[in-house]
Amino acid sequence: MKIAVLAGDGIGREVTAEAVKVLRAAVGRTRPMELVEAPIGQAGVDLAGDPLPPATLQAARDADAILFGSVGIPGDEAIPYGMRPGASLLRLRKDLDLFANFRPAFLFPELVAASTLKREVVEGLDLMILRELTGDLYFGEPRGIAPNAAGAMEGFNTMRYSEPEIERIAHVAFRAARGRRSKVCSVDKANVLETMQLWRTVVTRVGREYPDVELRHLFVDAAVMLLMKEPKSFDVMVMGNVFGDILSDAAAMLTGSIGMLPSASLGAGRKGLYEPVHGSAPDIAGRDIANPLAAILSAAMMLRHSFDDEATAARIHGAVGRVLREGLRTADIHGPGTTQVGTRTMGDAVVEAL
Ligand code: NAI
Ligand code: MG
Repeated sequence: MKIAVLAGDGIGREVTAEAVKVLRAAVGRTRPMELVEAPIGQAGVDLAGDPLPPATLQAARDADAILFGSVGIPGDEAIPYGMRPGASLLRLRKDLDLFANFRPAFLFPELVAASTLKREVVEGLDLMILRELTGDLYFGEPRGIAPNAAGAMEGFNTMRYSEPEIERIAHVAFRAARGRRSKVCSVDKANVLETMQLWRTVVTRVGREYPDVELRHLFVDAAVMLLMKEPKSFDVMVMGNVFGDILSDAAAMLTGSIGMLPSASLGAGRKGLYEPVHGSAPDIAGRDIANPLAAILSAAMMLRHSFDDEATAARIHGAVGRVLREGLRTADIHGPGTTQVGTRTMGDAVVEAL
């Protein structure tokens, strides 16, 4: 197992250190594991004058999987794209053609009270948002800001998806559903947008190859309502880049804390990039208070998807559940009757539970 460890900036470094600790403990001596650390983000700028140094890109290309922390510094947006620490992740995903972004939203029973929704709505929640990552409005040409025929300035972006792009994400969705509860909900806006008409047509056609998987289509507005009302009615939800951006954050909030949520970005093969959903959190960085569980659960996703090691992934989940049952909480999930601990203590506790 050759793993590139790109911890990045801010709390990315703190939580990735804990994930590595847990990974070493969980995998132990059962399989040879090589961890290659490389700088990215502001750390890349500081060490190599580039937010995505060539050596880091090479390490990512050479690895079987990438364990990623987070990148970004305050004021990031004002820095030109190529030198912007926060943009290094987009460049990396693009280079590795990681087009499928998996964001599970699930709730540990111990944390039901952390959700803003009623217990009966979220208890037992376990859904998977699958977001296409490389197309849609974010990449479509033409784009720009220019004067129109009437001489007024006009901003424009283009929603584009090609048939092969839709096909490949649809296959990923149906395969993922087979390993879960065999339900796919495709989210679009086919009533208004031609791009989304094609989306629905192609997803429907691919779905015929998976007769054992139930397929349903929802318009994005209806999907958001149902996600708030009956989130447990979903299994896998697949959608384009823009709708996925919005819906995955909405789904994340069903579960209470961003500090609990892992993610995976996958391509055509087994290789993937695994990272917590959250960013570098400069407001709490360097204080040993960040929740490392999203990063630790990302390492579990890595074992499952890139290394086919469901057993070890499940052991990590079990260890996290056990630590929560014992009442240990970082500040973001702390509440009455629980014990507040720091980042490192939480990581140590998971290792202990393993
Ligand atoms: P953020 O996710 O870093 O933080 C949002 C809020 O959640 C903050 O109040 C933070 O303290 C809290 N938080 C986040 N992770 C936490 C954890 N593990 N434990 C406890 N609390 C946690 O998002 P924000 O503030 O919008 O962005 C900060 C920087 O991170 C920016 O430079 C942004 O560009 C970057 N970013 C990077 C991402 C990535 O590397 N994939 C994703 C999102 C943002
Ligand atoms: Mg992240």
